[in-house]
Amino acid sequence: MTEGPDITFVLGTRPEIIKLAPVIRECEDRSLTRSIIHTGQHYDESLDLVFFDQLALPEPTHHLEVGSSTHGRQTGEMIIRIEEILRRERPDTLLVQGDTNSVLAGAIAASKLDIDLGHVEAGLRSDDRTMPEETNRVLTDHASDYLFAPTEQSRARLRSERIPDERIYVTGNTIVDAVEQNRTLAAQRSAVLAEYDLVPGRYCLLTAHRAETIDDEQRFGDLLTGVGRVASHLEREVVYPIHPRAAKSLEAFDLDVPDGIRIVEPQNYLDFLSLEDAASLVLTDSGGVQEEACILGVPSVTLRESTERPETIDVGANRLVGTDPAAIVEGADEMIDRDGEWTNPFGNGTAATQILDTITGAERREVSPK
Ligand code: UD1
Ligand code: UDP
Repeated sequence: MTEGPDITFVLGTRPEIIKLAPVIRECEDRSLTRSIIHTGQHYDESLDLVFFDQLALPEPTHHLEVGSSTHGRQTGEMIIRIEEILRRERPDTLLVQGDTNSVLAGAIAASKLDIDLGHVEAGLRSDDRTMPEETNRVLTDHASDYLFAPTEQSRARLRSERIPDERIYVTGNTIVDAVEQNRTLAAQRSAVLAEYDLVPGRYCLLTAHRAETIDDEQRFGDLLTGVGRVASHLEREVVYPIHPRAAKSLEAFDLDVPDGIRIVEPQNYLDFLSLEDAASLVLTDSGGVQEEACILGVPSVTLRESTERPETIDVGANRLVGTDPAAIVEGADEMIDRDGEWTNPFGNGTAATQILDTITGAERREVSPK
C-alpha cells in the first residue's frame, strides 16, 4: 500500500461491476485499494463472474454470498456483514455505485461507522418512490460525503435537496470510461453478430428486467406485444438477452413471446456492447443501457413511465414510451430515423480519474460537518 487513503468498494450486481471497473482499475494502479466486498446479490455467472474476468478485475477480497431474498432481509444481512468487515479493516473511504440494495447496504454500514462514503452516480432521480432504486438513491446520496454527480442536472438536483455544494463533484458517468475502454476491444474480439447471424443496422436490441416492468403480468405482456409489433412494423428481428429474473417471470406468467423477438442468454460485456453498437434501435427499461445507447449514438426508446436519465431525452437520443403497445410502436417508429449525431451528455471518459483525484485530495474542497 502506498501513501494515500485506503479505499474499499462494495458491489453486488452486474451494472455496479461494469461501472466501477474503471474506478477499481485506477485504484489498483495507484495502489489504494483496501478491499473489494462483493455482497453476492448477483450470483449467476452470467451476471457476475463473467464481468470480473472480462474487465480484468481483481477477485473480491470478501464474498458475502447474501443471494436473493426480500429487500429487508437481503439489505439487512448485507449491512451486518459489511459492518463486521469495516470494523476490522477501517478503510478511509468506502465507494458504492448506483442504486441497488447492495449500494444502500454499503452506505448505511459506512455512515454508521463514520467512514467517508463516496457515491458514484449521485443525484439521479426518477421521482417514483415505488421503485426500490429511487429509495436507495435518495438515502445513499443523503448519507454520502462525496457525491460524484454525472451531470450538471444531477448536481442541481442534489443542491435542490439541500446537500452542501462542497460535497458535490461533477465527474461525468463512469459508463463513458467503460464504453471507451471496451468499444474497440468489442469490435476486435466479439463474434456475437456472426454467431447470431445478425446484420449491423438490421435488427433491434431489447432488455427488460426491472421489477416494475416484469413483475406485473399485464405490463410485461403489453411490453412483449408492443415490441412484437415493432419487429413486424420495422421488419427487423428484436434480440432479447434475458435477465434471469425476467426469464422466471415469463415462465411463471406463461406469456407468449411474439414472432420477431428472439430470446437469448444474458451477454458478456464485449458481446453486449457489440450488439448495442450495431443495433438500429434499442428498446429498454435499463438505466445503464439508456446511457450506453446514447453514448454509442444508437437511438433508444425507454419502456418505462419515468427515467432518471432525462439527459438522454434532452439530447434527442431517447424517448419515454411506457409499456402501451401503440406507444411503443409510435416511439420506435420516430426514433429509428434519428441520426445518432447528438452530444454525449455523460462526460469525457475521465470520471474514474476525477473521482480518485478528489478522494486523494488533489481536487478536494473543505467539507462542512454533516
Ligand atoms: C437488481 C437491482 C436493479 C438492477 C439490477 C441489475 C435492486 C433493488 N435491484 O435487480 O436496480 O437494475 O439488479 O441487473 O437492487 N436472480 C437470479 N440470478 C442472480 C440474481 C438474481 O436468477 O444472480 C433472480 C432471482 O430470482 C431473484 C431475482 O432475480 O429473486 C431478483 O434479484 P435481485 O438482485 O433482488 O434484483 P434484480 O432484479 O437483479
Ligand atoms: N449488460 C450486459 N449484458 C446483458 C445486458 C446488459 O453486459 O446481457 C450490461 C449493459 O452493457 C450495461 C449494464 O449491463 O452496462 C446494465 O445493467 P442492467 O440493465 O442489468 O441494470 P441497470 O442499469 O438497469 O441498473
